Amino acid sequence: MLDKGKCVSPSKVSENAAGSVSLRRAARLGTMAIALGAMMVLALAVSVSTASAKGAGNEDLGAKTFKTTCVMCHGEDGTGTPTGKALKAPDLHSDAVQKMTEAQIAEQISNGKNSMPPFKSTLSKEQIQALAKYVHTFGKKHK
Ligand code: HEC
Repeated sequence: MLDKGKCVSPSKVSENAAGSVSLRRAARLGTMAIALGAMMVLALAVSVSTASAKGAGNEDLGAKTFKTTCVMCHGEDGTGTPTGKALKAPDLHSDAVQKMTEAQIAEQISNGKNSMPPFKSTLSKEQIQALAKYVHTFGKKHK
């Protein structure tokens, strides 16, 4: 009786050990699957949002990006906030700015100039291009 019990229990133990190891492995795989799934969802969300940004039309994209990224210095109407003026940001309606080509404006938004920070790492090419166009709309809307 005792002998039998002794004989059975080690094998049971090893079985259990093997079982818990594979369980642990399964759990780890599960975590990885969840992380992978989360990454895929994130990638999808990003690609959807860029697709809808492109679909919104360049003028909208420029106006939207300006409102989120540039107004803190240049103001919604492009004349400049107190912060912008303190940094010597020009009125975007001014001839000096309006004489710049879209390429020059895009270049400055990408690389920055003096107190204006560069945006090439935070904005897409489409956004910068749309902003360059949007800056030119200040030349038409005289206030
Ligand atoms: C932190 C404040 C700040 C932010 C944010 C900012 N700018 Fe500027 N911007 C400036 C300053 C300062 C200048 C003047 C640079 C100079 O000529 O010394 C300037 C100049 C400009 C000019 C005139 C070109 C020139 O040669 O001076 C344009 C056009 C312009 N900004 C567009 C933008 C756009 C578009 C954005 C948003 C992506 C933006 N700025 C965000 C501060 C800012």
